Amino acid sequence: MSNLVVTNLHKRFGGLHVLKGVSFTIDGPELIGLIGPNGAGKTTLTNILDGAIKPNSGTVYLNGERIDQLQPYDVAAAGLGRTFQVTRSFRRMTVLENLYVPALAMGREANRNEVHDKAMSVLEFLTMDHLRNEFAQALSGGQQKLLELGRLLMLDPDVIILDEPFAGVHPKLMEIIYHYIRRVNDEGKAIVIISHQMDSIFSLSRRLLVLNYGDLIADGPPEEVKRDAAVIEAYLGAEEGAEQATGA
Ligand SMILES: Nc1ncnc2c1ncn2[C@@H]1O[C@H](COP(=O)(O)OP(=O)(O)OP(=O)(O)O)[C@@H](O)[C@H]1O
Ligand SMILES: [Mg+2]
Repeated sequence: MSNLVVTNLHKRFGGLHVLKGVSFTIDGPELIGLIGPNGAGKTTLTNILDGAIKPNSGTVYLNGERIDQLQPYDVAAAGLGRTFQVTRSFRRMTVLENLYVPALAMGREANRNEVHDKAMSVLEFLTMDHLRNEFAQALSGGQQKLLELGRLLMLDPDVIILDEPFAGVHPKLMEIIYHYIRRVNDEGKAIVIISHQMDSIFSLSRRLLVLNYGDLIADGPPEEVKRDAAVIEAYLGAEEGAEQATGA
């Protein structure tokens, strides 16, 4: 069962102290929302968890293995996968080819037929098999997000971090993305969703983490966190500004 233990992470960019001792634990297939104002450090935290950047201090353990000094490739092999705020598919490759890439790069499957079969089963799971020969650049914003999820699923991660999975997604497709997030979670994977869209976060997550300029100021059931005075003051006060900034 997945177990992520994050202890006392600090990250500085020059004089900017972006993470100020962040600690939390994920035990098993939880569905967690991570919220906080623009610039709170959510993506920085994700970049540390997936190995893209190193913390100044603190540790991250996944299933008992220390991962905070590993490269992204090795973190992915250890069982943690993430999507990006701005999707990073190979735009001039087909949907199917996009799914081949992580599995072939990791050398996970013994041969290309196995990679193909796995990719087809992931596409069927996401009801995207009819799009398999489309170029990624032809997909809508929501379909791109699903393609990223599919690429993650090719590596069977235990813990998945979705950085803004609803940003730029047509409202009709959002319900579909909710559906697949829940299904992936039901299959036993822990999922952390980063979003500014409170309705989505509240309807999906059973636990909320609130990051406020480097400090984790709340961690608990959404209903409790919503009523937390520090959260109301720190986060909801800044939300108006965030909504203006994103045009939401
Ligand atoms: N590589 C970097 N170098 C310098 N500063 C950085 C770097 N990456 C992030 N920052 C700064 O760290 C702070 C936190 O940024 P981060 O992207 O983690 O916030 P966020 O919570 O993901 O915000 P948003 O909701 O807007 O996506 C910001 O002030 C940002 O400008
Ligand atoms: Mg971000």
